[in-house]
Amino acid sequence: MAAYEYETHTYDAIVVGAGGAGLRATLGLAEQGLRTACITKVFPTRSHTVAAQGGIAASLGNMGPDSWQWHMYDTVKGSDWLGDTDAMEYLAREAPKAVYELEHYGVPFSRTEEGKIYQRPFGGHTTEFGEGPAVQRTCAAADRTGHAILHTLYGQSLKQKAEFYIEYFALDLIMSDDGICQGVIAWKLDDGTMHVFNAKMVVLATGGYGRAYFSATSAHTCTGDGGGMVARQGLPLQDMEFVQFHPTGIYGAGCLITEGARGEGGYLTNSEGERFMERYAPNYKDLAPRDYVSRCMTMEIREGRGVGANSDHIHLNLNHLPKEALAERLPGISESAKIFAGVDVTKEPIPVLPTVHYNMGGIPTNYHGEVLNPTGENPTAIVPGLMAVGEAGCASVHGANRLGSNSLIDLVVFGRAAAIRAGQVVDRKAANPVLNKTSITASFDRFDRLRHASGNVGTAELRLEMQKAMQADAAVFRTDKTLAEGVAQMTAIAGKMDDLKVTDRSLVWNSDLMETLELDNLMPNALATIVGAEARKESRGAHAHEDYPDRDDANWRVHTLAHVDGAKTTLSYRPVITKALTTEAEGGISEERIKPKVRTF
Ligand code: FUM
Repeated sequence: MAAYEYETHTYDAIVVGAGGAGLRATLGLAEQGLRTACITKVFPTRSHTVAAQGGIAASLGNMGPDSWQWHMYDTVKGSDWLGDTDAMEYLAREAPKAVYELEHYGVPFSRTEEGKIYQRPFGGHTTEFGEGPAVQRTCAAADRTGHAILHTLYGQSLKQKAEFYIEYFALDLIMSDDGICQGVIAWKLDDGTMHVFNAKMVVLATGGYGRAYFSATSAHTCTGDGGGMVARQGLPLQDMEFVQFHPTGIYGAGCLITEGARGEGGYLTNSEGERFMERYAPNYKDLAPRDYVSRCMTMEIREGRGVGANSDHIHLNLNHLPKEALAERLPGISESAKIFAGVDVTKEPIPVLPTVHYNMGGIPTNYHGEVLNPTGENPTAIVPGLMAVGEAGCASVHGANRLGSNSLIDLVVFGRAAAIRAGQVVDRKAANPVLNKTSITASFDRFDRLRHASGNVGTAELRLEMQKAMQADAAVFRTDKTLAEGVAQMTAIAGKMDDLKVTDRSLVWNSDLMETLELDNLMPNALATIVGAEARKESRGAHAHEDYPDRDDANWRVHTLAHVDGAKTTLSYRPVITKALTTEAEGGISEERIKPKVRTF
């Protein structure tokens, strides 16, 4: 048994992660007078939300007619009918309120001539329940919207006296024997001390796990830490097989070129200079949803119409746009294209390739952010004391495919929703829980085992094996063969976690050990992804299965639940929630309107 001394901190609520969702939850909790702390492994304004470019979806109607019902319809269709209807309604309905709150907190949105929040078109966002033209729904602060939101929310959280534990790496949840979350254990990276956070509510806002793949727009810090913590407690991960490839990652470097570039008039071309999206999506063209555009680009490359010496990528053209528009609306990506592709966007096209960008799956929650532990008798049973928001969570509003700019709105709507719910369920006067010592000891044992790991495989080596396997076998297009190979490979790779070699045993700024802990988190996320994908015998959203090209609602309109224990993954399923929060008579959307149909563009 490993003995580590620790300091105990006591709060009403602890938020793990300081991206958009974590900070919005922190701010909402602190505003209500709950004693709130936020633990984060990076400085808050360096969280991955800082990289979000194009904007945040909300039906403000500043640039033309729009409604939350149209936004909801687009989200339902975008999800390929796998999203939970109650959560999708909540997202679309609360979005305008959440954006105006951001404005009042001080987010410096770009403006129209009349001074309203500027909104641009994004893929899959339409009018008239998909029958009308594209809508300008994506509220933008140039192409640095995430940056603007993050800085504003951090400042506001400090103003509300939320406390921050910066560069603390959360190791594990503390759970009571009867399954109630009681807090979190964290390792302070700059002095090596251990910390136990006792809380009545823990909110996981740890982001996605893009770094399970070789090429991703995600920061190197996106290592699925919340998913790892949850999986180690025997709780499920949901719909992990749905991994979004953003159509325009810079070829080679993987950095994001915002969909806003196409929203502002940019277009894709193949080696023949053809605007090929017009052929695949006559109505939506370059602004079809991401899963579809990524597949079309991949098909062009496969059929020999890729650009470059190896015909292995596609061109994104912006050079026809006025220089002033590029400077005003897309300054960030103009700079990224110069630095990472050596391209002057006013003169040349940007080389791009579909790149892993977002995880639709995550820790299952209801639309209040409460973590679910579904059972046969009760598919909506919650884990008391535990919430998950943002990319770490799966509410599920994105289902099988997320629409661009529905991520930032997910962060703030559900960060806010979790804070509201916590304000209702946390008893401020009650004593904090008596912590389960066995749970704390188990976490220190795991930490110590990894710290002293003396096997044969280095962390970076094993991580690369995992990333290559995931990149090759859980790709834009999948087949029975690639997925079966992927499951076999990933099971073998996960098995090597017992043969890891960590060379630095110190406790202060030990990046070798931290990356090993991150790998221990990535592994269950990656396993759940490939095993869930192998089992799903249909095509839906981002899961494009070449042996089963059609969506199969009769058998597969269900959420996958994956329990991962070491290298073993066990799957079960739970029903999709098809009931909206309001009826048509109450102003909602009719059941008929959102019933599944073929997705055309
Ligand atoms: O293309 C983008 O700006 C990304 C936005 C998003 O993922 O929502």
